[in-house]
Amino acid sequence: MSHIHIDIEHVSFGYETNQNVLNDITFTAHENESIGIIGANGMGKSTLLKLLVGLELPTKGSIYVEEIPVIREMLPKVREKIGYVFQDSESQLFMNTVKEDIAFAPRNYGLPEEEVQAHVQRAMERTHIQHLKDKSIYKLSGGEKKQVAIATILAMTPDIILMDEPTVGLDPQNRRNLIKILNEFNHLKLIASHDLDMVYDTCNRVILIADGQIAADGIPQKILTDKELLECNHLELPLRFQA
Ligand SMILES: Nc1ncnc2c1ncn2[C@@H]1O[C@H](COP(=O)(O)OP(=O)(O)OP(=O)(O)O)[C@@H](O)[C@H]1O
Ligand SMILES: [Mg+2]
Repeated sequence: MSHIHIDIEHVSFGYETNQNVLNDITFTAHENESIGIIGANGMGKSTLLKLLVGLELPTKGSIYVEEIPVIREMLPKVREKIGYVFQDSESQLFMNTVKEDIAFAPRNYGLPEEEVQAHVQRAMERTHIQHLKDKSIYKLSGGEKKQVAIATILAMTPDIILMDEPTVGLDPQNRRNLIKILNEFNHLKLIASHDLDMVYDTCNRVILIADGQIAADGIPQKILTDKELLECNHLELPLRFQA
């Protein structure tokens, strides 16, 4: 078994007792996979990603990130492996300026300052945000915040990337650039999104979540062209397949 992988074993979770959002979910995410997590509003896509980094803990079942159990005591170790862009990227930025925020993770690993700066520079270049480097986090636009959040996880050079609705708020050129960034990252990534065209362009596996379970799991060419399956799950064909 390769070293980069996530095992999700019979995981159930509910925010309120007696009401499970996810019900007995089992799958393995392997190295080199790029998995699109799709499904209607409120079906549990974000919840699934939160469980993978231990922001919520399963009520039943287990999750392992590279063999490390996702339990309270192990969370610092788990989070070293994973770069996570929240659906609400606002809540993940906390330093004063853009460059400080991007430097936080590499500095925290104890990299020499020269290397930290190199990581920061490279991450800003890749996301086209050099012009924002000294700007206050609180003075960014919605799309700029998303760009900065993406840069922060690139700077930490993680094994695994989780992104929750990463294209929301991005203009078409920044969206295109994000697709390029995602395609350049080939360890393991899970992307929750309603942007099925982006999922088609970046993923080699799609998992459809409905009613707490995996309703479909397969290649994008199969799932994202299945009009009936998508429509009965409140979704629509990617634009490129619409007549
Ligand atoms: N903190 C919370 N407390 C209670 N219920 C919550 C909480 N967060 C989410 N939920 C509920 O859990 C369910 C799954 O939410 P989740 O955010 O995972 O859905 P999602 O598939 O990501 O939806 P969207 O497409 O809108 O982002 C929803 O019914 C939601 O109302
Ligand atoms: Mg969500």
